[in-house]
Amino acid sequence: SSAAAELPIKKVAVTGAAGSIGYALLMRISSGQMFGPNQPVELQLIETEVGMKPLKGVTMEIMDGAFPLVRKVTQTSDPNVGFGDADVAVLVGGKPRGPGMERSDLMSANAAIFAEQGKALNNSAKRDVSVLVVANPANTNALVASAHASDIDPSRFKAMTRLDHNRAIAQVAGKTGAMAGDVKKVVIWGNHSATQYPDLSNALVEGKPALDVINDIKWIREEFIPRVQKRGAEIIGASGRSSASSAASAAIDHMRDLHLGSGDSWQSMAIHSDGSYGIDTGIWFSVPCLCRGDGVYERIVDIPAPDEFSAAMIDATRKELLEERDTVRHLLPGGDVQAV
Ligand code: NAD
Ligand code: LMR
Repeated sequence: SSAAAELPIKKVAVTGAAGSIGYALLMRISSGQMFGPNQPVELQLIETEVGMKPLKGVTMEIMDGAFPLVRKVTQTSDPNVGFGDADVAVLVGGKPRGPGMERSDLMSANAAIFAEQGKALNNSAKRDVSVLVVANPANTNALVASAHASDIDPSRFKAMTRLDHNRAIAQVAGKTGAMAGDVKKVVIWGNHSATQYPDLSNALVEGKPALDVINDIKWIREEFIPRVQKRGAEIIGASGRSSASSAASAAIDHMRDLHLGSGDSWQSMAIHSDGSYGIDTGIWFSVPCLCRGDGVYERIVDIPAPDEFSAAMIDATRKELLEERDTVRHLLPGGDVQAV
């Protein structure tokens, strides 16, 4: 036949698959939006015992999509089975916050899940599995999972700040009238929390410095930054539940760029700190990256040193992440943070 050789099937594990984000995410993975139109996938869906029944319904709907790329769908409540041979794991399972809560209030409910899932990934996933943590508190959940997966390089674990990155682009586009696609080099620094720093210092709007185009430092400091920091709460206030389709869309963007490459476009991802930018090693900190495809990324380090305001903002979110690490110390192997 003249058909090109087919790509090897990618095994994609998704936890929390019957939840709100899972519902929006699975259809888009199935239709090829995460790994491209030529990449067949096997979906390995993981839920709690209670989640198995609704998961059955979700699986029926995936089947009814008749997606040519979906070769198999499995359902399990055992993460050791669900992560079996996984090439990719999207960790969405966990509680979302409600009105009046901070994301860190989910620490006790969710971080323990990540100790178990880190162990399960270590037991059964591919050694080069590409892991995206979506469930909150995402950065610290990634730290806990990675600490329990000593055979998997910490650089394979990311926590999602792409939603914050997209929110920042959308706000700048709204303010300037530019198309979202013409807003570049936005950076989210630090934690996926209200201390994150959405930074426009390097940003471009239609190729011109965003700071000049916006020309309104008061708007940036008093409206843009707090709005992006608190956008999750704004959505919970409006709809009564946490963002779901925009979160799924951001997970698609993150994985697509990481695995298919995103050229010279800057992307924010919370990655394992190696000490760059003066950030403590061993925490998951969002920084600007270039995505080279096949899961390979580079930090963008060749940028001007932050001004005083930016340095203070970056320091505040760094301190919060160190505090979060202290809070989960009991969940780390041997309680030994040096081992992370
Ligand atoms: P949801 O409650 O609708 O769904 C979560 C699902 O996870 C449920 O079906 C639940 O049964 C399942 N689950 C719980 N524990 C599990 C476990 N141990 N293993 C497997 N599945 C498990 O919540 P949602 O709206 O889909 O949000 C999921 C998480 O994502 C929340 O923690 C939320 O705060 C977070 N979130 C993060 C971002 C981000 O930008 N990083 C954005 C939106 C939401
Ligand atoms: C978001 O950013 O929308 C999510 O992290 C949900 C939340 O609790 O804010």
